Amino acid sequence: MIALDPAKVDKPSMYAFFMSAVVPRPVAFVSSVGSTTGVNLSPYSYFNIMGHNPPTLTIGMCRSTSRGGGKKDSQLNIEETGEFVVNIISEWCIEAAHHSCGEFDRGVNEMELAGLTPVDSTIVRAPRVGEAAVALECKLRGTHDVDDSSGKPSGTIMIAEVVMIHVAEAVTGRTPTGKLIVDPVLLAPVSRLGGLTYGKTLELYDLGKPDKNGVYKSKK
Ligand SMILES: Cc1cc2nc3c(=O)[nH]c(=O)nc-3n(C[C@H](O)[C@H](O)[C@H](O)COP(=O)(O)O)c2cc1C
Repeated sequence: MIALDPAKVDKPSMYAFFMSAVVPRPVAFVSSVGSTTGVNLSPYSYFNIMGHNPPTLTIGMCRSTSRGGGKKDSQLNIEETGEFVVNIISEWCIEAAHHSCGEFDRGVNEMELAGLTPVDSTIVRAPRVGEAAVALECKLRGTHDVDDSSGKPSGTIMIAEVVMIHVAEAVTGRTPTGKLIVDPVLLAPVSRLGGLTYGKTLELYDLGKPDKNGVYKSKK
């Protein structure tokens, strides 16, 4: 095993390592609007759902090296309005959505640039992506700034509550007890692996759940 002490590894190397080691990561394609600027869309893979009661998700937004350490447009927008949408993008539109990761100037509408369709959200001002089979309208509930070793802010963890869910019926299924779920085969989700590598999620298998005696009773 190679032992790496994060305190002794340079930042670009740390970035490359974590991009490729903590995988696969879901990707939040975040749509937001500023108080005076238009629609913004960008991918964020420092992302996951943290709980369901209430549905809470977090996104890690790093400071932009190409903008002298300033906040990214998505963060500026979300801090101004307290709202955004997480769009879950499937294989059928990943190339288009990926285009939104360019370091475009603030105010450039990346949803339009990517050829994706803005659809009005129900609660928040930011539109959702019409091609996304799952879209989560979010309200910001908190932020946690992270400083680097020199004490300079290097990123912010955005903590948000999902206040409205949109899901295309065509990708849904039901549990044996009738609960609505998303069928992974129909959703065709993509994940981020290292660098700019994405992964498809094709080979599925179920594992049972051991009870307190370690006995597996069912596979669901
Ligand atoms: C698949 C993918 C995932 C990304 N995830 C993140 C992330 O989690 N955090 C981050 O700060 N930047 C991430 N980026 C980079 C941003 O998308 C990029 O800096 C973008 O231009 C920011 O746009 P904005 O300034 O409009 O918010 C990611 C890029 C790609 C391609």
